[in-house]
Amino acid sequence: MKVISCVGAKGGTGKSSISLLTAWEFAKSHKSKVALLDADVQGTSFSAKTMNPEIPFDVFSVGNKTQLWEKGKQLSEGGYQYLIIDGNPRSIHEDPDLIKMIAKLSDLTLIVSRPSPRDLKAQLKYVEMVKAETNGEVRILWNFFQKNTGAHKDGIPEGEKLLNLKSLQTQIGLRIVYQDIGYSESYIGSLGNKEATTEIRALGNEIKRLIDGKK
Ligand SMILES: Nc1ncnc2c1ncn2[C@@H]1O[C@H](COP(=O)(O)OP(=O)(O)OP(=O)(O)O)[C@@H](O)[C@H]1O
Ligand SMILES: [Mg+2]
Repeated sequence: MKVISCVGAKGGTGKSSISLLTAWEFAKSHKSKVALLDADVQGTSFSAKTMNPEIPFDVFSVGNKTQLWEKGKQLSEGGYQYLIIDGNPRSIHEDPDLIKMIAKLSDLTLIVSRPSPRDLKAQLKYVEMVKAETNGEVRILWNFFQKNTGAHKDGIPEGEKLLNLKSLQTQIGLRIVYQDIGYSESYIGSLGNKEATTEIRALGNEIKRLIDGKK
C-alpha cells in the first residue's frame, strides 16, 4: 500500500480538497482500491461519505498517532493500494506526534500551499519536522494557483528555496469548480470542466510516477 499525505501547518490551503480529488482520481481513473484517512478533527473528508454514500473509496477518521498506526496496518492488510491522509493544520501545536507518524508512514508528503510568502513562512517548522521523520518523497503542491501573477513568477522559486523542497510539476489552479465539487462530492471528470479534469489527471499520474517502483 502506497501512502500519500496532504499536509501543512496552514489552514485552508486545500489539503482536504486535494485529498478527496486524489482519492477520486485513483479510484475512478486507475481503478484502484483506495482509502482516505481523515486526521482532522473537523472531519472535512469524513463528511464527504455522508454527503455521497456512493463514493468509490472508503473514508475513515483517526484522532491520534495510535489510531493512525492501527488503522494503517489494518488497511494495508486489507488489500488497499493507496492510502491518502488528509492532515490537520492545528496538530503541529496540539499533537506533534500525529504529524511525525503521518510523515513516517508516507511514501509521498505533499505540502499543500498557496504561492504566498506569508503562507510559506508558516510551513517552515512543519516541513522541518516532516523531513526529520520521513523516508519518502516530499514535494510542495501549489494550490490556488494563478498564472501571470507575481505569486506565480516569484513566489514559487522563493518558496522552493525557503523550504528547500522541489515542487510537483502539476499545479492546481484557482477554480470555482473546486468549490462546487464540495456540494456534490462527485468525480471532477463528471462536472464538465476540461481544465480541472486535465489538471487532476496530471496530478494522479505525477504522484504515481513518483511513488511507483519504490518499496
Ligand atoms: N484550487 C481551488 N480553487 C478554488 N477553491 C478551492 C481550491 N482549493 C480549495 N478550495 C476551497 O477552499 C476552501 C478550503 O479548502 P480545504 O477545506 O480543502 O482546505 P484545508 O487545507 O483542508 O483546510 P483546513 O486547514 O481547515 O483543514 C474550501 O472551500 C475549498 O472548496
Ligand atoms: Mg481540511
